[in-house]
Amino acid sequence: MGDLWDRMAQAEKLRDQWHAAVDEYEKAKQDGRLASDVDAAFEKIELLKGAYLAKAKSNVDRAAQVYGRETWRYSRARPHGLRESLLADQRAAIVEFAQPRATDRVLDVGRGAGKIAALLRPSVATISGIDACAEMLAIARPWLDDVVQARLETLELGREFDLVVCCGVLDFVDDAGAALRAIRRHLAPHGRAVIATASLSAIGVAYALVRRLQGVRVHLYRPIHLSRLAATTGLRCANVHGIPGGSIAALLQAG
Ligand SMILES: C[S@@+](CC[C@H](N)C(=O)[O-])C[C@H]1O[C@@H](n2cnc3c(N)ncnc32)[C@H](O)[C@@H]1O
Repeated sequence: MGDLWDRMAQAEKLRDQWHAAVDEYEKAKQDGRLASDVDAAFEKIELLKGAYLAKAKSNVDRAAQVYGRETWRYSRARPHGLRESLLADQRAAIVEFAQPRATDRVLDVGRGAGKIAALLRPSVATISGIDACAEMLAIARPWLDDVVQARLETLELGREFDLVVCCGVLDFVDDAGAALRAIRRHLAPHGRAVIATASLSAIGVAYALVRRLQGVRVHLYRPIHLSRLAATTGLRCANVHGIPGGSIAALLQAG
C-alpha cells in the first residue's frame, strides 16, 4: 500500500505541474508573448502530461477497478444502505434536470449500475451506455439498447445524441476539458447534457476521503467550476445548482 501511495503522490505532483503548465501556456498566449515562448510553454505541457501518464495508472482505471470490485453491492435492493434514499433523491433531481422527451436518443456516460437509465427508460427513445468498467456495464445491460466499454475522454462513437447524461464521472477524470469536449462531440446540434459531480461540501469531502482510502482521487467541484469548464469547451451552461447527496448538477447546451 505504501508503494501505491508514493506512486499516487508523485503522479499527483506531476498532474498539478501539468495543469499549472496549461495555465502558463494560456497566459503566454493572452499576453501576446513571442511565438517561441508560446511553443516552449506548449512543449512543457506535453512533457509533463507524458510524465504524469507514465507514472500514473490513471485515476479512472483505479476507479473502474474499485467499481468492478463493488458490483455485488449494486445488485442488492438497497445498494447504499442508509444513503440509498438520499441517492434516490439525487437521481430524481438529475432526471428532473434532464427533462426527458419521447424522441430523445440518450447517451449515459459512466452508467454505473444503470439506476439513472432505469428511470429514463420509459420516457425516451433509446439509451446507449458507456462505462470504463466492464462489470458495471454487465449489471446495467437490461436498460440499455447498446453498451460500449470505453473512457469518456477519448470517446469516438461516431454518433450523435439528443441528451448526454454524465453523473458521478467527472469526479474521477483528471482532464475534465477532454471529457467535456468528448461530450460536445457526441451532442446533436441542439442537444443537451446533464453533468453531475461530487461538490465541495461536507458530504463531498467525506466521499472523497473514503475513495482516497481505496486509492482513488475524487475531484470536488463548485458550480462556477462547471460553468467555466463548459465555456472553455464550447458548451453553454443553462443552469447549475446543488442536488441531494453532496453533488451539483449542470444543464449544458450545444450551439
Ligand atoms: C459513481 S458511478 C456513477 C453511476 C451512475 N452514473 C449514477 O449516477 O448512478 C461512476 C461510474 O463511472 C465510471 N467511470 C468513471 N470514470 C469514467 C470515465 N472517464 N469514462 C467512463 N466511465 C467512467 C465508473 O466505472 C463507474 O461505473
